[in-house]
Amino acid sequence: MGARKIGILGTGSYAPQVVLTNQDLEKLVDTTDQWIRERTGIIERRICGPEETVATMALEAARRALDAAGLTPDRLSYIIVGTNTPDYLFPAIAIRIQDALGVNSTLAAFDLQAGCTGFNYGLYIAERLVAPEGKYALIIGSDASSRFTDWTDRSTCVLFGDGAGAAVLGPVARGGIIAQFVASSLNMKLYCETEFNAENSPFQPRQLTTARHFLKMDGPEIFKFAVKAVRESIRRISEITGIPREEFDYFIIHQANNRIIEAAARFARVPMEKFFVNVHCYGNTSAASVPLALDEAVRAGKLKVGDKVFLCSFGAGVTWSAALMEWGV
Ligand code: UT7
Repeated sequence: MGARKIGILGTGSYAPQVVLTNQDLEKLVDTTDQWIRERTGIIERRICGPEETVATMALEAARRALDAAGLTPDRLSYIIVGTNTPDYLFPAIAIRIQDALGVNSTLAAFDLQAGCTGFNYGLYIAERLVAPEGKYALIIGSDASSRFTDWTDRSTCVLFGDGAGAAVLGPVARGGIIAQFVASSLNMKLYCETEFNAENSPFQPRQLTTARHFLKMDGPEIFKFAVKAVRESIRRISEITGIPREEFDYFIIHQANNRIIEAAARFARVPMEKFFVNVHCYGNTSAASVPLALDEAVRAGKLKVGDKVFLCSFGAGVTWSAALMEWGV
């Protein structure tokens, strides 16, 4: 990595207009508002309407991030979209965004799939891409999990929502990323088995059931993994940087469940006020979760210049990742 400091120059996000409340879900499956609130902290989530897709949400979040950064799209060298629910297999959503932004072909645009950790993975890769030459990257997390949700399965359908978040990354005069890491390990407790056109091959005939296209999760197992992943992330970033966790000023972690965020606050020995929480409004928006929370925190004035901000996500794979940065904008 070059000596040049890289940081976030601007953020943006987008959430669909349609709101799905816990009360709405009470009419769909055998659940209650009280159960959902107590076990997850979620009160409502947003769901894509007919005109909204992973690409349209990503584009809106991207435009807002570029506006906030004061950067025109032609300055970008990379566009990375973290998504698990692409609108189609290929071309990449990122190239759709490139085209819609009117950016020329010298740019590299690609998608990556790393569960809910997609944005943090993108941030890790982008820092390494832009640092040597002082370039700019747009990193987006966008997911429409509602399209892969089994709306008859109460153990998953109450948890997820749709949305997008984005950040512009580039050279900074002050602050910037202090440390990052990424990690993964195979664990099939959270998965979606969709096999695009597998029934099409005359050489491998098989019957697909629609059930295979739905997201499935062993909640309690993933809960244990999540709590461990966040603790390990706080410990590891503290070790790499030599900065005690009590000195992290603000924590933005994947908004999967408020109980996971509370467990992280207890472990870090910091008050919950240092943790941004919007899981009650959006549920788990997968790869969009961290950049959507980051953008809301920025726009709410929660981050001050010089703050040490900890970003952490975890998800299907399993994957987990964290970053510590000094806020400079
Ligand atoms: O983004 C990727 C990462 N994902 C996560 O981090 C999610 C991690 N997991 C979780 O957040 C929690 O495990 C859940 C919120 C998914 C579930 O909470 P839990 O406290 O682990 O509940 P449970 O799955 O152990 O279920 C407890 C009970 C069961 O009933 P019995 O067996 O005790 O009679 C479930 O059948 O709650 C029942 N249940 C529900 N009841 C009402 C499960 N889902 C519901 C529901 N409404 N929606």
